[in-house]
Parts: sequence; C-alpha cells; structure tokens
Amino acid sequence: LMTGCGQDGGKIIMGTNAEFEPFEYKTESGIVGNFDGLDVAIAQEIAKDMGKELAVEDMDFGSLIGAVSTGKVNFVAAGMTIKPDRLENADFSDTYFDAGQVIIVKKGQTDIKSNEDLKDKKIGVQEGTTGDEAVSELGGSTEVYRFKKGMDAVLDLNNDKIDAVVIDEMPARAFVAKNEGLEILDEPFTVESYAIAVKKGDTATLEAINKTLKRIKEDGTFDELYKKYIDA
Ligand code: ARG
Repeated sequence: LMTGCGQDGGKIIMGTNAEFEPFEYKTESGIVGNFDGLDVAIAQEIAKDMGKELAVEDMDFGSLIGAVSTGKVNFVAAGMTIKPDRLENADFSDTYFDAGQVIIVKKGQTDIKSNEDLKDKKIGVQEGTTGDEAVSELGGSTEVYRFKKGMDAVLDLNNDKIDAVVIDEMPARAFVAKNEGLEILDEPFTVESYAIAVKKGDTATLEAINKTLKRIKEDGTFDELYKKYIDA
C-alpha cells in the first residue's frame, strides 16, 4: 500500500490494476509511491479536493468491483468501462475518457484485416475486461486466451502463440510503441467510455468525484494531464 499527497483528513483508497499504461502503471518514480498514470493523477486531484491522502491498492482487474462493493477500497479508477452488469454492483461517476477496444496483430500478417476475421482465431485478452467479454461473444471456434496482464498477451503475440490481442486503445498504443513487430488495425473493435466506480449508494464519494471531474475539466488540469500522459 503506497501513500502520497499528504494532508490531514485521513486516507482515501483507490483500487486499481496497474498493468494499464498510460492510465495506471508501476515505475521507479511514480506520483504515488511506484504508481503513475492518468487515473492516479485524477485520483490525486479527487483526494486533494477532499482534503485526504491518496493510497493506491493494486490488484487483479477482476477483483476491483468486489473490492469497492465490500469497502476494501473507496473507489476504483482503472480505465474501467461503464456497462450494465457493472452498474448492478457499483455506482459510476460521470465518464472522463472515451476509448474502445482495438486489435493488435503482427506486422505483415494477412489473416486478420478486420473485426470479422477474429472468428476462429486465437485471441489474447486481459481477463475480466470488456475486451475479454467482446471476444468471448464471438463464438464459433474462436479461442480466448485470458491473461492477468495485457503485456503478457502481447508477449505471446510476439512469440506467435496467439494470432491477435484485443485490448483498449491507449494501452495498445503503449505496447506497440515498445514492440516494433506489432501494429494496431485501423477499425476500432468496440466503442466505450471510462468512469470511476464507488460502492452502491455511496453518494458522498460519488458526488465528490463528479465535482472534481467537473473542476479539472473546467480549470485546464485535465488538459494538462492529458498532454502529460496521453499525448506524450
Ligand atoms: N476498459 C476495459 C474494461 O473496463 C479494460 C480496463 C483494464 N484496466 C486496467 N487497469 N487493467 O474492462
């Protein structure tokens, strides 16, 4: 558990899965302990406005909704897509980012040119994500390879163990930037929006989060953070 941004009003705990550059990732010199990324920076703004110290709790992506609904963390900021089954188990803030799933393939391959070509292929996804869900729905003899970390799916693609990876656009760009042999197909696979999750009925935290999201969009902070983490 890493803390940062100290003030005197106690702690507020952000749950995340820090395998999702540029939204949350681990680095030598993070902004909260070893953690950095756009979501961590937004969470710092939320904590600051609440007069609290931000702590980051890192876990598997699939454990996050459970962690916020049992009160283990105060909110989840994890590039998390707002969608109906998640809304049954948590409340979500206003959306703060639009980004869908994209398809990563090896450069030069010719089998997968568009979304339809994913059918009957071996596809890597991060377990429990919307990418996992979308690929699992393809049916047929599509084989879904589920990884705890998106990066591990990318490594298997590099090693020809799978045919493609379906993952959110911004992490896809970060992974492809580090792997010369890979590219992203132009056609997006899904269209999604990210929001921050709180425990069902925790209107105090939800209102505080929405207030900060509104403030940082209005006062230029969000644009600055966008430049730092997304346009970098
Ligand atoms: N947007 C996708 C979803 O909500 C993937 C999010 C993965 N985030 C992460 N921090 N690993 O399912």
